[in-house]
Amino acid sequence: MKTEKSEQIKKMFDEIAKKYDIANNILSFGRHYSWKKYFIKQLGPTLGNAILDVATGTGDLAFAFAKALDYDCTIKGVDFSEVMIEVAKSRNTSNCIEFKIGDATKLDFATDTFDFVTITFGIRNIPEIEKAIAEMTRVLKSGGKLGIMEFGTPDAGFYGIYKFYAKYIMPAIGKLLTKHPDAYTYLPQTSLEFPYGKRFVEIMQTSPELKNINFTKLQFGVVYIYIAEKG
Ligand SMILES: C[S@@+](CC[C@H](N)C(=O)[O-])C[C@H]1O[C@@H](n2cnc3c(N)ncnc32)[C@H](O)[C@@H]1O
Repeated sequence: MKTEKSEQIKKMFDEIAKKYDIANNILSFGRHYSWKKYFIKQLGPTLGNAILDVATGTGDLAFAFAKALDYDCTIKGVDFSEVMIEVAKSRNTSNCIEFKIGDATKLDFATDTFDFVTITFGIRNIPEIEKAIAEMTRVLKSGGKLGIMEFGTPDAGFYGIYKFYAKYIMPAIGKLLTKHPDAYTYLPQTSLEFPYGKRFVEIMQTSPELKNINFTKLQFGVVYIYIAEKG
């Protein structure tokens, strides 16, 4: 059963979905594309792989995976926001990608199905975080990789300017672009509150099948990448 909090989050993403891409491009200065490209490179998929992108939003990571693998792969993208999935489907021209509605905490896929399971900028929006990690691990094949990309709190030298940007600039521009009263107050605030680095690794360790958990930080710690293998 969905919690009240996750219902509110779903409603918020439904409301901003149609303006999500433009807001994302402007607010990240287009950087999210190169972060996603680097993330895929770090994961190292190969031709023919089966990939699941959870909380796929409008599908950017799924499209980047397909391009990186020359469309020789099977990609499923799931998100609990119907409107996000609608936008993702409208952008999809590839036969190797399928988008469908799905909840990260209750994935509608068999155990041991995917070579890679990914989630980018989605995990911090999931109240039952351990449950989502357990589910993503369950649907991974043994030896498969779980990749998580999420915001963190930047290093001291960059923190002040980032905090100012997140607290004042992002909410103002986000509101202007999406007309949503508080989505872009919520999103940067949850980024700064998210347990990043070693603290997040400890959360991943609650899924005992995950081994070799590593993380790298990008852009002075604005973004973190976590990669683990299913043993
Ligand atoms: C900030 S967006 C990120 C979208 C995309 N992955 C990207 O990198 O641009 C977060 C997404 O997580 C989805 N989401 C949040 N909680 C979810 C859950 N429990 N199950 C599935 N999707 C969820 C939202 O609907 C939203 O599309």
